[in-house]
Amino acid sequence: MKFFVDTADTNEIRELAATGLIDGVTTNPSLIVKSGRDFKEVIAEICELTDGPVSAEVTALEADAMVAEARELVKIAKNVCIKLPLTIDGLKACKILTDEGYMVNVTLCFSANQALLAAKAGATFISPFIGRLDDMNIDGMELIEDIRIIYDNYGFETEILAASIRTANHVKQSAMAGSDVATIPPSVIKGLAKHPLTDKGLEAFLADWAKTGQSIL
Ligand code: E4P
Repeated sequence: MKFFVDTADTNEIRELAATGLIDGVTTNPSLIVKSGRDFKEVIAEICELTDGPVSAEVTALEADAMVAEARELVKIAKNVCIKLPLTIDGLKACKILTDEGYMVNVTLCFSANQALLAAKAGATFISPFIGRLDDMNIDGMELIEDIRIIYDNYGFETEILAASIRTANHVKQSAMAGSDVATIPPSVIKGLAKHPLTDKGLEAFLADWAKTGQSIL
């Protein structure tokens, strides 16, 4: 499963990109406002930090206007992936842009039927929002499982991008359900490596090593 970082904070992206574990980045208008940065400027900087897709979201609501905004955003860098909302206009714009060879991430997906439409519109990525469904007492992970079945039934190449991930368990469950990608907040990515028994075991090994009086270098 590919890992995208779900943030517009370039310091966080730089730090995580240095691990070699990051395959792309997703942003949305809420993350842009949180960064306090100019939209195009921050997207350009993020695109230099990763070779992978960097999702930049349009804000127009009508298909022609979405396409116009997308054409402006793709000028920023080759790895800009246009993020479009899952509306009829968004799907129409998705078909136009993907037919022209641009990457499109269809966002705000909350049902399997929406995901089916996005695949038919040629989306590169579909973003089901797990956490926001969980918030409503609906099992977000079931949506990933349903989309996986539907896409496999018909051989759709649209990649399932598990979004609105809040916990380490969401990451594990997305991987088990066959998500192609998960977009994950930086704090959750860092938390994945942590285990108290790892810390405890390492401490014991280092204490014993010190008793040998040896050094490797
Ligand atoms: C990513 O593409 C989404 O915009 C993001 O994962 C939404 O997460 P949230 O529900 O925590 O805002």
